[in-house]
Amino acid sequence: MALPYHVANHLDTALRITADHLGLVVRGFEPEVRVADPAHGDFQANGALAFAKREKQNPRALAQQIVDGLEASLKTDFEITLAGPGFINFRLKPEALFAWLRAYDSAQHLETGAAAAHAGQTWVVDYSSPNTAKQMHVGHLRSAVIGEALCRMLTFTGAKVIRDNHLGDWGTQFGKLIYGYKRWADDEAMMAEPIEELERLYKLGHTATPEGSPELEEAKRELVKLQNGDPASVALWKQFSEASLRAFDQIYERLGIRFDHNLGESFYNDKVERVYRELTETKIAEDSEGALVVFHDEHPRFSRHTERPNPFMVRKADGASGYASTDLATALYRTEHFKTDGIVVVTDFRQTDHFEQLFLTVKKWFAAKSYRLPELHHVTFGAVTDEAGKALKTRDGGTIKLKSLLDEAVDRAFALVTEKNPDLPETERRAIAQTVGIGAVQYADLSQNRSSNYVFSWEKMLSFEGNTAPYLLYAVARIHSIFRKANTTPAAAASESGATLPETASEISLARKLVKFPDAVRLASDTLRPHHLGLYLYELAGDYSSFNSADKVLVDDPAIRARRLLLCARTLLILETGLHLLGLRTLERM
Ligand code: ARG
Repeated sequence: MALPYHVANHLDTALRITADHLGLVVRGFEPEVRVADPAHGDFQANGALAFAKREKQNPRALAQQIVDGLEASLKTDFEITLAGPGFINFRLKPEALFAWLRAYDSAQHLETGAAAAHAGQTWVVDYSSPNTAKQMHVGHLRSAVIGEALCRMLTFTGAKVIRDNHLGDWGTQFGKLIYGYKRWADDEAMMAEPIEELERLYKLGHTATPEGSPELEEAKRELVKLQNGDPASVALWKQFSEASLRAFDQIYERLGIRFDHNLGESFYNDKVERVYRELTETKIAEDSEGALVVFHDEHPRFSRHTERPNPFMVRKADGASGYASTDLATALYRTEHFKTDGIVVVTDFRQTDHFEQLFLTVKKWFAAKSYRLPELHHVTFGAVTDEAGKALKTRDGGTIKLKSLLDEAVDRAFALVTEKNPDLPETERRAIAQTVGIGAVQYADLSQNRSSNYVFSWEKMLSFEGNTAPYLLYAVARIHSIFRKANTTPAAAASESGATLPETASEISLARKLVKFPDAVRLASDTLRPHHLGLYLYELAGDYSSFNSADKVLVDDPAIRARRLLLCARTLLILETGLHLLGLRTLERM
């Protein structure tokens, strides 16, 4: 019998059962299984240590007692040793490695194994979420890229994921935009390049309505008309939103993103009244000079007792709703309508205070009304900077449009592919350049801890060396080429029954790394940090490359050839599955 998909989980369960028999679980024993340093084994259980210390027992004796009690099948699959003051090391035997590799033979199969983590759960992921009537610029890259990777990882680990683009499609800017539109709109430009035209009209509207001018009063009247639902104003606003979405969709398509919903701020217009009512009646919010606000006195920064109080503004003094109002309504809608178990919002770190205040308020509100509280996660990320650490700008100091950034990535990748492979037909080189260029931009983001700044370097992201998309995509293409050379397919080669157990040092290292894929996926999805998966894939590609230089794959001996092709097929499967989870496309030829 093959081991289950997630070997570390399987060990955790087995250790718990044994510890339970020994009466340790009721006293708080935790197995603490983790991936081990490969020099010591595959997995390590550290739990005996902390437990023995607390209970004033000899940790090594306790660990030995647990090992003695383990079920026999574990001893068939693992070499089990004690180390140091009471670590239990588990090393998979070649038979067990081989059986696992045989069993997990498709992305579907891996996914079935992984699905236990979030089985039966629904998660809403709020990402990208740009403001309408403006182009997406480089600052919009990270939320889209990180958000999509999280959606895919959560789906893979069993959740039903709802991708929600929370557009900033409401606010005072629409007064000035309508003002500009009514005076200077160019129909042709509106057809050809709507967002560029809307940006131009907003700028004109803004300059024409200075503070204190009668023009500004007119722009404000436009806003009030829109807010009161005047049909002509609403029709215009709708046209702006639709044009914006069409432009955004072109970017999303290039990044492999498809939203289930575009429930922007405007969607919550009629849902904020209930927020005001419930937060008032539960006394969570209070009146402050006409505004409705929430203080969190238990919190050092959001308490009323700080030097410069910074309350959460549920309703402004003029009665208008704002970012806080719509986000409160959004949390409730997601909970009631989607029955979500988890909400993830992906924005840059500058919104940290807003989301801390939002989540604190939601927790108190839902508790007071006995609403079910979903898990709430604000996933933050750093800025996009150049190599000197400054905000990334065009040469003349302007903001870089996302569209032109992606175009440049593809152009640069095309030059690179042409240099490497001048003989490929141009259409093929263009297609490869799409995948490599976009993948490079995505992966440069995903391979770093998202809390750090994304230091943008064309040279690094397009290098074939290091933890980069070209390196990983090339590893994938290289494995495909082995199968072409062998005149077989990964599936056929892997089902070949003549394969023998992994035997050489590099075969065994590679097999041991492959079996750790579930741990990498789990770590990345539990922490909502895709770079853990990226690092694993990079290390796997490294182990594959060592295997490839140590052991020739296409040898004459059919048994050795079959087992090496099995390893190639599984490396390919896991690299491709992992890269797709991060949102990248892969190639068979490069
Ligand atoms: N539109 C916002 C911005 O551009 C991001 C919205 C994020 N989502 C949310 N529910 N607040 O900064």
